[in-house]
Formats: sequence, C-alpha cells, structure tokens
Amino acid sequence: MLPLADRLRKASRVTVITGAGVSAASGVPTFRGVDGLWSNFRVEELATAEAFERDPRLVWEWYAWRRRLIAECEPNRAHEVLAAWSRRYPKFSLITQNVDGLHERAGTTNVVRFHGSLWDLSCWQRCAASPVRWRDDTVLFPALPPRCPHCGGLARPDVVWFGEAIDPGVLEESLAAIDCDVCLVVGTSAVVYPAAGLADEARRRGAFTIEINPEPTEATPRFDLAIPGKAEVVLDELESLMMRR
Ligand code: OAD
Repeated sequence: MLPLADRLRKASRVTVITGAGVSAASGVPTFRGVDGLWSNFRVEELATAEAFERDPRLVWEWYAWRRRLIAECEPNRAHEVLAAWSRRYPKFSLITQNVDGLHERAGTTNVVRFHGSLWDLSCWQRCAASPVRWRDDTVLFPALPPRCPHCGGLARPDVVWFGEAIDPGVLEESLAAIDCDVCLVVGTSAVVYPAAGLADEARRRGAFTIEINPEPTEATPRFDLAIPGKAEVVLDELESLMMRR
C-alpha cells in the first residue's frame, strides 16, 4: 500500500471509476451477487424501455422504492475520501456507474454520471418543450407515474436502461477523463459495457490502473494492480498513508 500511496501523492491527473460496491457500506444494494438486486428482480421487467412501455407504473414503483431507500442512506468513508481527492488534485475526474447521487452528496466535484441519476427525470416522449432532464428529489410521489411538467405525458427516470446508449456528451467527457496518470476502478463487477472498457482504454493510453474490490472480477488480470478489499477500508487506509509525511 505504501508504494501506491506514494504514487498517488505524486500523481497530478487522477481518475476514479466507481460501481455499486462503493455504496454497499452505505446500505445501497448492489446489482449482482447473492443479495444483489438482479437476484431478486428481473432486469427485463424493470430496467428496459420495453418494460416501461408495457407497465410504466410497475417500473416507477421499483424506482420510487429505490429512491426511498437511498434517501435514508448516507455517504460512507469511500465517498468521503474520493470527495477529498476531488478537491485536492489539480485534475481529478470521477466517473460513476451509480445512480444514487452519494458521490455528489459527499461533496465530490467533477462527477460524470455514466448511467444517469435516480434523482433526474426526463420526458418519456422527449417533448420539445421540456429540458432534456430535470431534478426531482421527491421521496413520496403523490401519484405514480410522475408526469412531464411541460406536456403532461409520462416522465421516466433519467437513467440508462439495458439496450440504451450512453449519452454521447457523457461518453465524450469520460473518454477525455481517462487521459490520466492513475486510474482507480472501485467496486464494480466490470461486466457492463461500455463502462467496463474505460479502464482498459486508460491503460492503453499510459495510465497506471488499479482495481479495488473484495472479489476478483473478469477484469482483474488486466489491471496493473488489484487490491482485494472493501472500498471504504482500502481508500481510508490509502488516504491515511498519503496524509503521513
Ligand atoms: P455490481 O452489483 O455488478 O457489482 C458490484 C461489485 O462491488 C462486485 O464486484 C462486488 O464484489 C463489489 N463490492 C461489494 N461490496 C464492496 C465494497 N464494500 N467495496 C468495494 N467493492 C465492493 O454493480 P456494478 O458493477 O456497479 O446498470 O453494476 C454495473 C451496472 O449494472 C450498474 O450501473 C447498473 C447495473 O445493472 C445500470 O443501471 C444501467
């Protein structure tokens, strides 16, 4: 850990890519694994445009439940350390697959929301009158599904569903952000593309790449360094070492 802390202290361009494991210690369920959301729910009934078309109320009930659950959660030590780094480094980017908003709540600057946000809504019909997305922090919706304030049609959660493309602007921002000295990938199973390919591209461009995850992933052999451990523990330890003179 000491050589890594030293490398991080000397780096000026740091990029961190996060997944659901970063929020696990906050009580936010991950997607895969025995207790993961995808063990209890079917993706194709809840997280696709076809599912929404078929039963928008059912899809919204699931998202409203997750919003209620996440509203009760607090950022953990992993979010805090990353927020501190975002303020300290001259060039720092955080690309997150998480839609929970906990990085922003911890005070992280420069967050790229790769898969959107549970706290943003957009018009299902993409009506010309509405902005592309709007923020809505409502925890208990008076009625489901919520409506577009402009056309009165259905609103949808502004998250990327299976089968949908990543917003081109977000993709462009992410590809710019992976030009860095050190790229850390924290708490993701690395199975969902294109997010899972970002670290490979960072390494190809010359970054030193590190994975932090208590379990090995498909991507583990492709990293320069893999640290088996929990985000909230490993990042806390790294931060303490970096702060030591
Ligand atoms: P997953 O649920 O697939 O993976 C979570 C990873 O976190 C696993 O590899 C765990 O081993 C690891 N993990 C668990 N606890 C941890 C901890 N305390 N510290 C560090 N790591 C820990 O979640 P993602 O990889 O984020 O897509 O999933 C990717 C995408 O699939 C999500 O963004 C979502 C989902 O379907 C969309 O919403 C489009």
